[in-house]
Amino acid sequence: MVDGEYDLLHHGDREVGDGLVDLAVNVRVPEPPEWLRRELAGCLGDLAAYPDPRAATEAIAARHGRDPADVLPTAGAAEAFTLLATAFGAGNAAVVHPQFTEPEAALRAAGHHVHRVPLSAADGFVLKPDAVPAEADLVFVGNPTNPTSVLHPAAMLRQLCAPGRLLVVDEAFLDAVPGEPESLAVERLPGVVVVRSLTKTWGIAGLRAGYVLAEPEVIERLRAVQPPWSVSTPAAVAMVACSSARAVEEASRLARAGERDLSALVSGLRALGVEVAGVPRAPFVLVRIPGASRIRLALREAGYAVRRGDTFPGLDTDWLRIAVRRDMSGFLAALRDVL
Ligand SMILES: Cc1ncc(COP(=O)(O)O)c(C=O)c1O
Repeated sequence: MVDGEYDLLHHGDREVGDGLVDLAVNVRVPEPPEWLRRELAGCLGDLAAYPDPRAATEAIAARHGRDPADVLPTAGAAEAFTLLATAFGAGNAAVVHPQFTEPEAALRAAGHHVHRVPLSAADGFVLKPDAVPAEADLVFVGNPTNPTSVLHPAAMLRQLCAPGRLLVVDEAFLDAVPGEPESLAVERLPGVVVVRSLTKTWGIAGLRAGYVLAEPEVIERLRAVQPPWSVSTPAAVAMVACSSARAVEEASRLARAGERDLSALVSGLRALGVEVAGVPRAPFVLVRIPGASRIRLALREAGYAVRRGDTFPGLDTDWLRIAVRRDMSGFLAALRDVL
């Protein structure tokens, strides 16, 4: 769907391939870790049976200290957006932008009227709770937000809660922020829905694994519209494995290393005089470079794919999103040459 100027269904994966270094897609690792591949290989003999998500539900609940009734495993975080848009009627939805466009695409497809709440680059894309219309009964916000990389304070998110409203916080990248600060996943809060993804940290975007944490009544309504067996046996196995204490500890180590890489990238960009948006906390940065479309194409010539920013509502062709990787010195040198 192309909505006016914005192609809401554009994803970074359309910008990779052709042997380019992938800085366009935010999946952190090029392949799942060995221990996870062993778990996945181990379940192949069970594929004759229909999937059973109960062990996954319990493992996710234990990982977040929640009741299993608060958990719905989904085929990636993306499925959760469609389930929410479908289960919660065609009401007044508000989407805080710029953010991942799949929630808005799902809302529009389900017939919702969508009000866009724009955050301003001049303010570093910080959340302004007052900007969300009082009549909005379904509000979507990302934390940390893709593509701005801004992490909103939990206290500010709570200000968005209101009677009769469902606040959906997309925490798809929060496991990549050390200590998972500002998360609303840790307790059952009235009217709050948290969406999580396992695909980025663990390199399993092709497997589709995510989940929703919410009050049991909300979970039941989502389950009622979820296609049968939408979480496959391997995805359920991955959910159990990635929710173990060892996996959570590994994710936290990766997050700490990622934070160092992020800080090196931001310094490198600033040293080149490149404007970095807001205070980046996620494993990607949003930059504004006048004439960024030309820069993006020149970077492709130099072997690097970065993501265009202009498909995100609120951004234009001067914006690019760059994924954080271990050693960005080659990229920074290539960028310097094309600026
Ligand atoms: C902010 C955000 N939320 C959710 C998703 C979807 O994640 P999943 O692969 O779990 O469906 C993405 C994918 O890029 C994303 O960027």
